Amino acid sequence: MKLWGGRFKMVPDKLAEKFTASVSFDGRLAKYDCLGSIAHVKMLGRQKIISKTEASKIIKALNNILVKIGSGRFKTDTSCEDIHTVIEKEVIKLAGEAGKKMHTARSRNDQIALDEKLYLKETIDNIIIKIKKSIKSFKGFAGKNKGLLIPGFTHMQHAQTVKFEKYAGAYIEMLERDISRFKDVYKRANYMPLGACALAGTSFPIDRAMVSAELGFTMPTKNTLDSVSDRDHIIEFISACALLSMHLSRFAEEMILWSTKEFAYIEISDAYTTGSSIMPQKKNPDIFELIRGRTGRVYGGLMGMLTLMKGLPLTYNSDMQEDKIHLFSVADSIQDSLDIFEAVVKNIKLKPENIKRSMYKDFSEAVEVANYLTKKGLNFKDAHTITGKLVLYCMEKDKDLKELSIENFKKYSKLFKEDIFNVFKAK
Ligand code: ARG
Repeated sequence: MKLWGGRFKMVPDKLAEKFTASVSFDGRLAKYDCLGSIAHVKMLGRQKIISKTEASKIIKALNNILVKIGSGRFKTDTSCEDIHTVIEKEVIKLAGEAGKKMHTARSRNDQIALDEKLYLKETIDNIIIKIKKSIKSFKGFAGKNKGLLIPGFTHMQHAQTVKFEKYAGAYIEMLERDISRFKDVYKRANYMPLGACALAGTSFPIDRAMVSAELGFTMPTKNTLDSVSDRDHIIEFISACALLSMHLSRFAEEMILWSTKEFAYIEISDAYTTGSSIMPQKKNPDIFELIRGRTGRVYGGLMGMLTLMKGLPLTYNSDMQEDKIHLFSVADSIQDSLDIFEAVVKNIKLKPENIKRSMYKDFSEAVEVANYLTKKGLNFKDAHTITGKLVLYCMEKDKDLKELSIENFKKYSKLFKEDIFNVFKAK
C-alpha cells in the first residue's frame, strides 16, 4: 500500500522505491505513531471532523496495534514505504472504511515531527534515569574509599594531594550538569507540531491545544512552517549526548591509565575485562576503551545532523528523513554506554598501597610549604622561590620534603619552625 499514487501514471522503479523507503529504520517509531494518531483521531471525533463511531473504530484498531507492539508481536510490514504507511494499512485492515479517515487534517510531515518528539521525550527521561544510576555508582565508589589520599594531577604531573571523594565528586558534578542539559533540551522539544500538516496548517476546525494536552506537551508550536522543518531539538539532544559522552570518555581514559602497570592504581573485576587470544597474561580494560571509542559515534551523529540541516530551505525536505539514522545511533549508543558505565564503576578496586607509593617524593605538599611561609609573613613570590630551592635540594639528596630536618628547613628560611611538619601530617 502507498499513501499516494493517484497522480502517477507509472509505478515506482524498484531501486527508487528501495532508496526512498525509511521503514527499515523508522519502524521503531511504531508506538509513538499510534499514540500520536490516537490523540489526533480523538480530536477529529470531538471536533466532528469525523463521526464519533469512526473515531472509536480507528482508536480501537490503534489500541489493538499498541498491545501487539507492547508484547513484541507486531510485525512491521517492510513492503511499506515508512512506519506511517505500515500503521495506516493495519488500521484500515482492522477498522475498515473508517480507517481511511485517520489521516484527515494531517500530513506525514507534521506526523513524523510529532513521532520523533514523542520518542525524544521518552528517551531523555530514560537517559536521565541512567545518568542518576551512574551518579549513584560514583557515590558508592567514593564512599568505599572515603578519606583515601590520591595525587591530583595537572599536566599529567603530580600537583597536589586530594581526597578520593573529591576526585569522584568532579565526575558527579559533570553528570549533574548533563542532567540539567537534558532537562533543558526536553523543555524546548516539548511543543506539539501536529496540525501544521504539510506546512501551511489546515482549513479543518482542528483543536491543536487538545492534542497537545492529550500527549503531555506544554503547548502547540506556533509557526506551521517551522513546525515541520525544525530539528533543533534533535541537534540539541545529540549535543547533550556529545558532552555526556565526553565526560564518560574522560573517566574511561583515566581508568585505562590507572590500570596500567605503570600506574597500577586500580584493579577492574575480571567480569568487566577481557583477555588476549595470544598473550595469556593479558587483562584488557576493553569496556573503558569502548566507552571512549563510542564517543566517535556520538560526535559523528552531531556532525551528521548539523551537516544535514545546514543547507535546507524551508520547509520539509526529504534530507530530513536521514535524521533518524543519527538520532537512533546516538541514543542507542549513549544508553548502552551508560548501562555498562554504571556497572563497571561498581567493579573497580583502588590499590591504596600503590597509590601511596607513587606519592612518595612527589613534592605535592610544596604549595603548602610555600603557603606556610606566606602565612608567617613572607610574600608568596619569595616563599615560592624558597620552596622551589628546597625541592631541588630534596631531589639532589633523593629525599621527600617531609624527610628533611628542621635544620635543613631553617637553612632556607628563618621562618620555618617545628610546626612545618604539620603540613605533612595528612600524607
Ligand atoms: N519518512 C519521512 C521522514 O522520515 C516522513 C514523510 C515525509 N513526507 C514526505 N512527503 N516524504 O521524514
